[in-house]
Amino acid sequence: MSGGASQASWNTRAFWGNAALLSLLAVLGFALSALQAGDWWTAAPRNARWAGAAITVLAYALFCGAILWRSRPRRERDETPAGPGACFVLVAYASQTGFARQLAERSAESLRQSGLTVKLRALGQVDGELLATVGRALFVVSTTGEGDPPDPSLGFVRGVMAQPATLGHLRYAVLALGDREYEHFCGFGHLLDDWLRRHGARPLFDLVEVDNADESALRHWQHHLGQIGGVTDLPDWTPPRYEPWILRERHELNPGSVGGGVFRLAIAPPAGTAPAWEAGDIAEIGPRHSAQSVAMLLQTAGLPDDAIVEADDAQESLATLLARSHLPTADEIRSLDAQTIADTLKPLPHREYSISSLPADGTVQILLRRMLRPDGTPGIGSGWLCDHAPIGGEIALRLRSNPNFHVPDPARPMIMVGNGTGIAGLRALLKARIAAGARRNWLLFGERNADRDFFHGDEIRAWQSQGFLQRMDLAFSRDQDRRIYVQHRLQAAGEALREWVGAGAAIYVCGSLAGMAPGVDAALRSTLGDDRVEQMLADGLYRRDVY
Ligand SMILES: Cc1cc2nc3c(=O)[nH]c(=O)nc-3n(C[C@H](O)[C@H](O)[C@H](O)COP(=O)(O)O)c2cc1C
Repeated sequence: MSGGASQASWNTRAFWGNAALLSLLAVLGFALSALQAGDWWTAAPRNARWAGAAITVLAYALFCGAILWRSRPRRERDETPAGPGACFVLVAYASQTGFARQLAERSAESLRQSGLTVKLRALGQVDGELLATVGRALFVVSTTGEGDPPDPSLGFVRGVMAQPATLGHLRYAVLALGDREYEHFCGFGHLLDDWLRRHGARPLFDLVEVDNADESALRHWQHHLGQIGGVTDLPDWTPPRYEPWILRERHELNPGSVGGGVFRLAIAPPAGTAPAWEAGDIAEIGPRHSAQSVAMLLQTAGLPDDAIVEADDAQESLATLLARSHLPTADEIRSLDAQTIADTLKPLPHREYSISSLPADGTVQILLRRMLRPDGTPGIGSGWLCDHAPIGGEIALRLRSNPNFHVPDPARPMIMVGNGTGIAGLRALLKARIAAGARRNWLLFGERNADRDFFHGDEIRAWQSQGFLQRMDLAFSRDQDRRIYVQHRLQAAGEALREWVGAGAAIYVCGSLAGMAPGVDAALRSTLGDDRVEQMLADGLYRRDVY
């Protein structure tokens, strides 16, 4: 059982246990009453006995009250503006033992924190009418039995899912909870995902499978919630356990580019370790504020910069703790002592990056673009990695397996489509294909200008000349008047695409969730047809890591 599931079952167990205890007491009381020979109220009990009895009954009544209060039916918070097409996000859950409900509530809360209007509903309470009015929906669903929908959602399954539906207006995402021990892993999540697609709904991003409350998969979901809400600093539900990696190299690959600086970083594992990862995996990094901004805050607040505090069962300087937390203002902390400040701090949420190297390269390499805020200052994550993190200094990093983006069988042809820093994930896949001797590879890549934004261009051209890339199509949108993007190249190569897919090719897409991913999806559908694309999705031959 996972965390959330234990809460709901606790209520149920306590409730029934309670009922059993009550009936036992009643039976006992009844049986004993038969032994009472005379009148019931003859003996006047001593005050203390009375008081004791009264307190016991009161405590018991409070205990019952607590249980009933905790399992009371809750009215979902719903601040949906009235009228069809109203701009709100529906968060619907299907839960057997409460975990999916808990995650749906937390997802709704995260979206509200980013300013979105949310309607939270049990899936059993979602009807065709509601689906017809909602523009974006998140489904948090578990599986029970042998691949079955949770009981409370059967009304939806037998009602709405049994009818034809037109869902072209709907963008959606599915968080599928399950347990790999079961034959039909996340069976209901996939069933629902399939139904939504077949009726025209378009995924915001690919279904996220959660094996037994796996924290890293939940953080991946959260990462997407941040994107839906347009915020990057949603607090992590469970902070990742980082290791102290070392920043070895940092190079700006495209100085002067209109698209903003893109940096390649090489990060070495902690001394004496040889961590393993696969192409397609993710590096989760804990960002830090710059030492200067922390020092400035402490100075403005008139606080010493060498105070030692307790945090996460360890001692560290207040300055170090501030560097990895959401920064308070000077006014908020001026009158507080160091430990009190420490106790109020919330950790910065992780950032995730596609790994562009293999373990044989000795370092985790990533590509990232420096993101600028409206005031022109760099974002916390990219500011740290592109500007502030010292070479030779520590990077808090955790590897996360991403099986959904691992390479296919070497015998299968592979088409890789990406833009911008998305080349990072594709580079690792290509390296793995080359290491496996797989030559039937086709790369389609897009960026702004060929002379500075073809990241890893020399290396990729070398692979092409060595025969590891049978085909390469490049799109540099600013190198001519008409903006040409990677999806246009794909569309133009329709015949080749049909031939490769006919030969069993798998398609991997990495890069922008907005613009590129939907553009590539549309090009695939117009060239191969919806049914073929749906089949490839179901067969795991069309995979995306988009952000
Ligand atoms: C009786 C039972 C049957 C289950 N059957 C499946 C299954 O067929 N496939 C699967 O992936 N997970 C299965 N699970 C795992 C649950 O989907 C998983 O624990 C989930 O987190 C429960 O979420 P919930 O509390 O919202 O129902 C089963 C769990 C239980 C208790």
